[in-house]
Amino acid sequence: MADPRSLFDLSGRVALVTGASSGLGHRAAQILHEAGAKVVALARKEADLQALTEGLEQATYVAADITDRGAQNDLVSRIAAPFGAPDIIVHAAGVNRRQTADDVTQEGWDQTLEVNLTAPFFLTQAMIPAMKTKSWGRIVNFASLQTTRAFPGGIAYGSSKAAVGQMTRAMAEAWSCHGITANAIGPGFFPTELTKPVFDDPERANRNAAQTCIGRNGRLDDMDGPLLFLCSEASRFVTGQVLMVDGGFTAK
Ligand SMILES: NC(=O)c1ccc[n+]([C@@H]2O[C@H](COP(=O)([O-])OP(=O)(O)OC[C@H]3O[C@@H](n4cnc5c(N)ncnc54)[C@H](OP(=O)(O)O)[C@@H]3O)[C@@H](O)[C@H]2O)c1
Repeated sequence: MADPRSLFDLSGRVALVTGASSGLGHRAAQILHEAGAKVVALARKEADLQALTEGLEQATYVAADITDRGAQNDLVSRIAAPFGAPDIIVHAAGVNRRQTADDVTQEGWDQTLEVNLTAPFFLTQAMIPAMKTKSWGRIVNFASLQTTRAFPGGIAYGSSKAAVGQMTRAMAEAWSCHGITANAIGPGFFPTELTKPVFDDPERANRNAAQTCIGRNGRLDDMDGPLLFLCSEASRFVTGQVLMVDGGFTAK
């Protein structure tokens, strides 16, 4: 029997991580690199990407806005230039404008859908041909509690994240027969830039912690295991799933 630990070994794989300048994407880039992957970290804030990848031989960055449709072909070339086309794509870039249903603007709606849903789809679509030639690929999208739950100020964000759930299943339907799995992680509450308004309000943060089965909110390293699983050979027969990493928030 092969060493079961090799199921999680990412040596020889190339991983693209969007949203790598901050929060869960930043952590994802670090952990995939630790697991042996060559990592391309993508976001707009170049200084943060530089700090993340500095001194790492097997990691580099691309500073770009994923919503820039006119630049997509160029972006795909820039991503593949250092290490070749990605075998693994982690779509951690995301925005939450928290506009209420009464006040949401067209601009807020469009940006949310564009960053959270449209750009991840078309970026993936552009990279699928290279994955097909290798008959291997891992796509990891980021869903949310709001994939299935309505929160105040979540009309645009929740709509985008519900759609991420369905996009994940549709990607799985389209591409899994080529060895390319598509799954999503649905985080509970993790302290990042995105959730600063939640964690700045201790009463609200504690209420969310109490809503979980485990009794606390997430720590960034709680994401390491689920992410490695979905990015590696270990999950080869798992596709089209939203794995909630929420301490049991949605279980009760
Ligand atoms: N934290 C949580 O509790 C939680 C819960 C549920 C779901 N999620 C989801 O998990 C993912 C990561 O969230 P996070 O909490 O880590 O958020 P975060 O700390 O705010 O990070 C968001 C990332 O997205 C990047 N980004 C935003 N717009 C972009 C654009 N147009 N082009 C390229 N990059 C862009 C940002 O980088 P730049 O500003 O440098 O571009 C940043 O790196 C998101 O999809 C989020 O919806 C998070």
